[in-house]
Amino acid sequence: MLNEKQLVTDIAQQLQTLAGASPSAFAVLGSGWKEQAESLISVEQRINLADIHHWPLPAVAGHGGELVVGQLLGSDRRVAFITGRVHAYEGYSGAELVRGVRGMIEWGAKNVLLLNAAGSLSEDMPPGSLMPLSDHINCSLPNPLAGGEFVDLVDMYHPEWRAALLKKCPDITPGIYAACIGPSYETPAEVAMLQKMGANAVGMSTIPEAIAAHAMGARVMAISMLTNLAAGIAGSRPNHQEVLDTARENAQKATETLQLALMLALD
Ligand code: HPA
Repeated sequence: MLNEKQLVTDIAQQLQTLAGASPSAFAVLGSGWKEQAESLISVEQRINLADIHHWPLPAVAGHGGELVVGQLLGSDRRVAFITGRVHAYEGYSGAELVRGVRGMIEWGAKNVLLLNAAGSLSEDMPPGSLMPLSDHINCSLPNPLAGGEFVDLVDMYHPEWRAALLKKCPDITPGIYAACIGPSYETPAEVAMLQKMGANAVGMSTIPEAIAAHAMGARVMAISMLTNLAAGIAGSRPNHQEVLDTARENAQKATETLQLALMLALD
């Protein structure tokens, strides 16, 4: 039986064998970010996540399951996209949630872009808005460092990388992302609590991956697509179809932002 560290190393070695030298950056494409992402690269390698031993697989329909590696068009940068994220609400542990991300970083990909869909906690940020994370509030997701390190999370969402993106996109506003385990959406009372705590958006992912990547010394950027008003705001009752529909309607903008974020990744 391999321990968690050995499983991560095994994944990194498989990636090296399957795809050669590591890309400099990779993105985990959450709901709303997959539609056109591949149009940004010339694909070199397409790996089914199910073919990478020990890589935990998503169960939710529509969440995909590939690692795509290629050249970012218009640059000399090699990047990778992961189209299948696993969630704590599927029953995965903190370590399992981040095993793939750790494997990618150990392989050598040190710029980590985490993309998700989230509910907006303010009518000032309507559905369709993009929100780079400036910080987070972890409500109920497992911590991937359990059993180990005491790591400080100040400036975990890399300030310079984010500043470079905001300079190019003056119309997007960064904010604080809260995450609850789900898969049910929040109650209106929870939404009111999150607003009072100072959060700007709420989702069900990203935080464990960000913590693990930061602890490994990688640079982290995360961006939420706000797909709906959170439960109870202006009478909102979030549902999965609305999340997918808003994501599809805003795919173009999301893809342009993804391209910029990858272009601006620091080396
Ligand atoms: N809450 C939690 N996660 C989400 C939401 C929401 O309103 N929308 C998209 N993901």
